[in-house]
Amino acid sequence: MIKICNKKESTTQKIFLFAEDDWQQEKSDYPNMNHFFNGKTKEVFIKTDSQQIQFFIGIGKEPMGYEIQAIANRFANDYKKNLQAVPTSIISKLGLDLTEEFLKGLFLGTYCYPFEKSHPFWQENFELDIENISEDEAKNLALKTEALCNGQFAGMEWLNKPANHKKVDQISEFLKTTAEKYNLDYKVLNRAESIKEGLGAFAAVNQGSSQEAAFTILEYKSAKGNAKTIGLVGKCVLFDTGGISIKPSANLHYMKSDMGGASAVIGALITASELKLPVNIIAILPITDNAVSEKAYLPSDVITAYNRKTIEVLDTDAEGRITLADGLSYLSKNYKTDVLIDLATLTGSSVRMFGYTCGAYFSNNDDLKKLLEKSADKTNQRIWNLPLWDIWKDDFTSDVADFKNISMKPFGDCIVAAKFLEQFIEGHQNWAHLDIAGVAFGNVGYAKDKAATGYGVQLLLDFIENYD
Ligand code: BES
Ligand code: MG
Ligand code: ZN
Repeated sequence: MIKICNKKESTTQKIFLFAEDDWQQEKSDYPNMNHFFNGKTKEVFIKTDSQQIQFFIGIGKEPMGYEIQAIANRFANDYKKNLQAVPTSIISKLGLDLTEEFLKGLFLGTYCYPFEKSHPFWQENFELDIENISEDEAKNLALKTEALCNGQFAGMEWLNKPANHKKVDQISEFLKTTAEKYNLDYKVLNRAESIKEGLGAFAAVNQGSSQEAAFTILEYKSAKGNAKTIGLVGKCVLFDTGGISIKPSANLHYMKSDMGGASAVIGALITASELKLPVNIIAILPITDNAVSEKAYLPSDVITAYNRKTIEVLDTDAEGRITLADGLSYLSKNYKTDVLIDLATLTGSSVRMFGYTCGAYFSNNDDLKKLLEKSADKTNQRIWNLPLWDIWKDDFTSDVADFKNISMKPFGDCIVAAKFLEQFIEGHQNWAHLDIAGVAFGNVGYAKDKAATGYGVQLLLDFIENYD
């Protein structure tokens, strides 16, 4: 439990936040620090004496909320060995909103894999004393920070798990327990049920697997009568070998991260439920792995999707768009949603385009684009818009089916994939697709190798909180 108060008691551990200009004015109050600390961004200076330990953190000039969060995240991670589990004061000139960002960063920075509450911040004796906030504000800050950690950590935890601990049964068990805990509706279709239901595209990807399929539907219903309904679809390929169109072995281990879309959706769903946000959310996770076996679907197979469109499979490694096709049309046909967003680690093409800086995104609605970009800029989980021009559709017309699953041209696959998905939204007028292959899994403070970044959770939450 996170504890935040405003007791003004003297504590033995203090965290001072200083912007450069404020430091210039106040530095005479802190003798002997002149050469060591200037208030520049990310600077940290530690001062100890027999009475107390003081951390001075520089926040630069007029930092944005996400910058404050990043500074705090890094501080919590870098200095966990120096920090103690004792009541701690935060002394700053930040207003309430920036204080919230700082706290989120502090606690998100305690993440390690596998997650355990070993960081001093999660110990019984750790309590944050913040000046100039009311009791209600303190409670609210603790609640929001903890809800975010619970959601984002859950998503990151699943993304980080190795392939042998990330089996369909295991994640399904987790989702079922989560649904019970937060009172969500939970429905799952295994392989036979998916076939019976007509989810032929999703089932084709699963058919080579020794594991069951789990086409999962989670519903969060808010108490508010006329709440908006948000449809979310997250790519949830637990391991992507490429299937028969098998991937080369270099970097293949990174394909445990092919559920980054689902991890963002799971995170947002948990946090939204915990905060009891006044929206309805319907989340679809078409869960499977993409395996190599004698039963696996083959290049040249023609499969029938949920919306009865046929797909000629020319590359079994372009499996994400096939599972999402059924996820999108199932959601669009069976539920009335005000907005439909899918997130997926969909293409290497988007990584080659934007590297690790931003996700590629596509939408058929200009208002939705504005809202998503606003949330993405605010949370620094950036997205950049690419076109859905009809000309791209010509690239995946097939001789033997409605569509083929790749274009066979050596360019623009993230656009081709997006245009392909558009064929399955069943006329939804407010849809966006986020290709997050480059940003979901990457360099992070808490691990040496690539690991879950938590990308997408705060972006979705900010969008959800502002959508009405
Ligand atoms: N899961 C991959 C995309 C991916 C690549 C995710 C890199 C994360 C990092 C996807 O299923 C895939 O294999 N896409 C192929 C499509 C190609 C065969 C048309 C790709 O991008 O190479
Ligand atoms: Mg693939
Ligand atoms: Zn994939």
